[in-house]
This record gives sequence, C-alpha cells and structure tokens, in this order.
Amino acid sequence: MRCTFSLIFAVPLMVSVAHAELSTVQSNRLNQILPQSYQSSESCSNCHIRLYEQFEHSMHARAFENPVFQYQFYDVLLPQMVNDNDSVYDAAACLACHSPTTFLSQDLRLPARDAGDKSLPGVTCDFCHTLTGYTGSSPGNANYRPSPGPIKYGPLKFSSDWHRAYSQFQRQSEICAVCHEATNRFGVPIHTTYSEWSASAWPNKGIVCQDCHMSASGRLVSGKPVFDSGVLAVNALITPKARGKIYSHNFPGARIDNQLHGAVKLQVHSFPKQLKPGQTMFIGIELDNSEAGHSMPTGAIELRLAWLDVKLRMQDKEWQLKAKPAAKTKWDVAGANPADKALYGTAISPGSRLYRAILVDREGQPTLNKWEAVDKVFDNRLQAGEERRELYRFTLPTDISGNLEVGATLRYLRYPPGVAKRLGIDAVDSVLVAKANKLIQISN
Ligand code: HEC
Ligand code: HEC
Ligand code: HEC
Ligand code: HEC
Ligand code: HEC
Repeated sequence: MRCTFSLIFAVPLMVSVAHAELSTVQSNRLNQILPQSYQSSESCSNCHIRLYEQFEHSMHARAFENPVFQYQFYDVLLPQMVNDNDSVYDAAACLACHSPTTFLSQDLRLPARDAGDKSLPGVTCDFCHTLTGYTGSSPGNANYRPSPGPIKYGPLKFSSDWHRAYSQFQRQSEICAVCHEATNRFGVPIHTTYSEWSASAWPNKGIVCQDCHMSASGRLVSGKPVFDSGVLAVNALITPKARGKIYSHNFPGARIDNQLHGAVKLQVHSFPKQLKPGQTMFIGIELDNSEAGHSMPTGAIELRLAWLDVKLRMQDKEWQLKAKPAAKTKWDVAGANPADKALYGTAISPGSRLYRAILVDREGQPTLNKWEAVDKVFDNRLQAGEERRELYRFTLPTDISGNLEVGATLRYLRYPPGVAKRLGIDAVDSVLVAKANKLIQISN
C-alpha cells in the first residue's frame, strides 16, 4: 500500500472533476487548478532573511511535515481510501490547507510514508502573498483566490519598483479564515476559529488575527498590538529604509507555551467568610477568556482540551473537588465518560472540569478524525471574552483547623496521550495556562 500510494492517489484525483459529490473543499477548487508556478520560501530568504527565520519555525512552514498530521494522513486516512472512495476527496482536501501549493499545482505524487523526504512545503510565503481574496460569500474550506506571479501582495501602501502591491485582504482576518474555518463533507463545522472571532467583541474593536499572531509578542499588550520594527529586505543590492512597523511571522499558537501562559485568567472566591470545622463552604472559580481572540481551546478542536483542577489542601490532607456534569453525556467531567479512559488514562485528575468539543462518527462514537465526524455533540469551550464561573460545594471535616488552601489550575493539552500511543508519536506534556490560590482560615 505504502509504496504504491502515489499512484492510487493521483488517479482518483484526476477523475475528481467528474465525480458528482465532491467534498466542499474539492468543489470550491474546480476552476482554480493552476500550473506549477510558485516560488519556494527559500528564494524569499535571499532578501527577507529575518521574516524567513521566523516563518521557518512556524507551524505554517511545517503544516505538512508535522508528525501529528503525517500520522493521521498516512496511517489513518490513506488506508481508508482503499475501502471508501469518498475519503480520496478528503485526502486531497487535506493538502488544500496543509500544502496548498502542492494541491494547486496538482503535483500529488506524495512522498511515501517511510521515505526519508517527508517534507512537502507547508503554507508558503509565496502562497500567502499571492492571495487576493476568496470565492463565494464567506471565507472557509480553502476557498482562497490564488494569483501566483511576480506581484507579491502585502500591507505596504505606497508602490515601488519592488515586486509588491498593496492588498487590503492581507490585513484582514479573512485571509486566515480561508483555512482557519472549515466544514467537512457531512456539514460538521470542524474549524471555527474565524466564526468564533467574528461573533466576539474583537472585530468591533478593530482587532484582527494579525494583531495578535503577527505582533511582536503574539499577544496584545494592554489591549493593543505592539509590532517589531526594522528593515524588511536585505541583500547586496538593496537595503530599503527601516520601517517602524513590521508584522512578525512566528505565528505562535498552541505549540508555544508562552502563547498559552496567562491566556485565561483565574480567580478563586469562597464563602462564607468565617468558616468553622464541619461547616459547608462554597468555592467559586472565575475563568476569564479575555486574551484569546476566539474560543479556548480553538483550532483542531477534536484534539485540544483544557481542564480546571481544583484541590483543597490542609497540612497533609488533600481533597479533589469534583465538578458536576452539565448533562447526561458527562463530556465535561474527567473520568466520568467511559470513552475518555483509553485516550486520557490518568493524565487528568478525575472530577476536573473539561473544556472541549466532541465530534462523533457514524456509530455515535467520539472521533479524532475530523473528516469522518457526522455531528458535533458537545461544546463547552470558553468563548472569546467570556467569563465562566464554576461553583463547588464542600463540607469541612469536623476535626480540622488551620489554613485551608484552595488551589485552582487550568491546564491545556494539544492532543491526548492515547493519540500519541495510537499513532506512535511522542506524547506532549500539558501546559499550565493559569493558576490561582487562596488561603482560608478555619477556626473553632
Ligand atoms: C499564512 C500566511 C503568510 C505566510 C506563510 C507568510 N506571510 Fe508574510 N504576511 C502575511 C500577512 C497576512 C501579512 C500582513 C499583515 C497585516 O498587514 O495585517 C504579511 C506581511 C509580510 C510583509 C510585509 C512586511 C511586514 O512584515 O509587515 C512581507 C515583506 C512578508 N510578509 C514576507 C513574507 C515572507 C518572505 C514569508 C516567508 C518567509 C512570508 N511573508 C510568509 C501572511 C503570510
Ligand atoms: C531581491 C530581493 C527580494 C526577494 C528575493 C524577495 N523580496 Fe519581497 N521585497 C523586497 C523589497 C526590497 C521589498 C520592499 C521592502 C520595503 O519597502 O521596506 C519587498 C517587499 C515585499 C512584500 C511587501 C509587499 C507590500 O506591498 O506590502 C511582500 C509581501 C514580499 N516582499 C514578499 C516576498 C515573497 C513572498 C518573496 C519570495 C517569493 C520575496 N518577497 C522575495 C525584496 C525582495
Ligand atoms: C493555506 C491555509 C492557511 C492560511 C491562509 C493560514 N493558515 Fe494558519 N495554519 C494552517 C494550518 C494547516 C495550520 C496547522 C499546521 C499544523 O499544525 O499541522 C496552521 C497553523 C496556524 C497557527 C499555529 C497553531 C498552533 O497550534 O501552533 C496559527 C497561530 C495560525 N495558523 C494563524 C494564522 C493566521 C493569523 C493566519 C492569517 C494571517 C493564517 N494562520 C493563515 C493553514 C493556514
Ligand atoms: C486578542 C488576541 C488574539 C486574536 C485576535 C486571535 N488570536 Fe488566536 N490565539 C490567541 C491566544 C492568546 C492563543 C493561545 C490560547 C488559545 O489556544 O486559545 C491563540 C491560539 C490560536 C491558535 C492555536 C489554537 C489551538 O488550540 O490549536 C490558532 C490556530 C489561532 N489562535 C488562530 C487565530 C485566528 C485564525 C485568528 C483570527 C480569526 C485569531 N487566532 C485571533 C490570541 C488571539
Ligand atoms: C480548510 C483547511 C483545512 C483542511 C481542509 C484540513 N485541515 Fe487540518 N488543520 C487546519 C488548520 C487551520 C489547523 C490548525 C488548527 C490548530 O492549530 O489548532 C489544522 C490542524 C490539523 C491537525 C492537528 C495538528 C497538530 O499538531 O495538532 C491535524 C492532525 C490535521 N489538521 C489533519 C488534517 C487532515 C488529515 C486533513 C484532511 C482530512 C486536514 N487536516 C484538512 C486546516 C485544515
């Protein structure tokens, strides 16, 4: 299967035009197939070395070679193609976002899974800088409008002899939305980062994706974007004037711990004020998603998860506070849903509140394969700008006194340990997003 893959793959793609029921991504693309006409990102590095060095480490550069993508693509999706014609279209669609220049040039002879060279280009410089808009009424499902050629579109307003032209599209969230918004062939919204942003207060404040993800720190500073400055292009022939504002190309996201630290703010409240042993107390945790421009988590929602762990400690005793499930399904409490066991094992303290979305397959089972999801059955992620409150009730033992510590932590996991095991890739550590403590005096 593996070595003959390129053939299997190339043939069905050529017949895709005749196929009546193409996936959404495929049908968007019918009139847009282009000859091989993109320059490599390395060629841009000759002058834009600083931007290139940032970009090189970003997930855009690695969108195809990313091992999580590779394993899902080669080891899960492609074997399905043998029995299921439709998944051929899904496989092609993956490339529309994870290696768009490969997709557009129809050079779909992919490297075999075990070949040394697994690195098709990801989302390249030239791909983004020759986008001029999108087709249809709203951006998403790779409905970008490509126009490869000598003109590179960007945010610099006055024209010059250089290969550049101003484009308003490059400055809007919509250029990101063509890929960061998607619905699969069953009509299930699988990436909703753009619509989450659209529904939030950010657009009215004039804050777009670029203001956070292309600013110097990847975040707003006191509510405002702060950008790098410097020279945009350097080589033996040219050195234009330094510019006061440069969009950086690191695109920090869920892989960068700093991007996650403090992304949500936590506060611990408790009442009543005076507490005696044996009394019942209430603990309120306030979570404030004011730093992200969208829900938290966002993006690959089938894999991402955040959880709130609340513990009480006194001397050598510790109590885990248990969140109440919001619904019968119990998707929002760690250890409460049997389907979670294989995926999360003991990584998350039972009773922790989970924030996530659940996509299910035809059998109604939760799936991590976004292309085969037929429904989104659960979604309690923290929305942009939302302040969420969690309330816990705890009856103090009668035999304690002293300082009771309430400790709340919000952690984030890119993908479950069970996925790492299943795919044979490295497990990822969870990242601390926020933490808050409160000391309460218990006295007779
Ligand atoms: C995912 C799409 C994307 C990729 C990949 C990308 N850029 Fe950009 N780039 C942008 C956007 C969007 C802007 C403008 C941001 C704005 O004005 O809001 C920009 C701005 C620029 C600018 C204008 C100066 C500045 O930084 O403000 C240059 C030059 C540039 N990019 C070059 C490059 C080069 C070279 C690469 C590859 C090494 C690259 N870009 C990769 C999207 C991309
Ligand atoms: C020979 C040097 C050179 C190479 C190679 C080069 N650029 Fe540029 N580029 C420049 C210069 C010079 C500017 C203008 C910078 C300024 O005015 O500050 C520029 C500006 C840009 C802009 C800003 C456009 C605007 O109007 O906002 C973008 C985008 C851009 N380049 C993309 C690319 C991409 C993509 C590649 C690779 C395919 C590339 N460049 C390769 C020299 C180069
Ligand atoms: C051609 C499609 C495409 C476009 C256009 C695009 N992205 Fe992406 N982006 C991706 C893909 C695919 C990934 C995921 C790569 C991976 O994890 O394998 C990604 C990853 C990211 C990440 C990193 C997420 C993480 O988990 O670390 C950020 C942040 C991001 N994009 C922001 C943007 C912004 C901001 C824009 C607009 C300026 C943009 N993207 C435009 C396809 C695109
Ligand atoms: C106000 C700042 C801000 C804005 C605006 C913003 N983001 Fe983010 N983004 C963040 C922060 C902070 C994180 C890290 C926390 C998280 O994952 O939510 C993040 C995370 C991400 C991730 C990684 C999420 C994951 O869990 O895999 C992606 C992808 C992303 N953003 C894309 C976008 C896109 C696309 C837009 C525009 C539609 C956008 N962001 C707008 C701040 C912002
Ligand atoms: C419409 C654009 C689009 C299409 C089509 C698409 N993806 Fe993605 N994919 C993205 C974006 C954007 C992200 C990054 C979201 C984030 O960082 O959370 C992503 C993230 C992922 C991730 C998570 C990577 C990680 O390191 O956590 C995997 C795995 C993945 N995609 C696999 C696939 C497969 C397999 C297909 C084809 C069935 C596919 N994608 C089709 C846009 C797309």
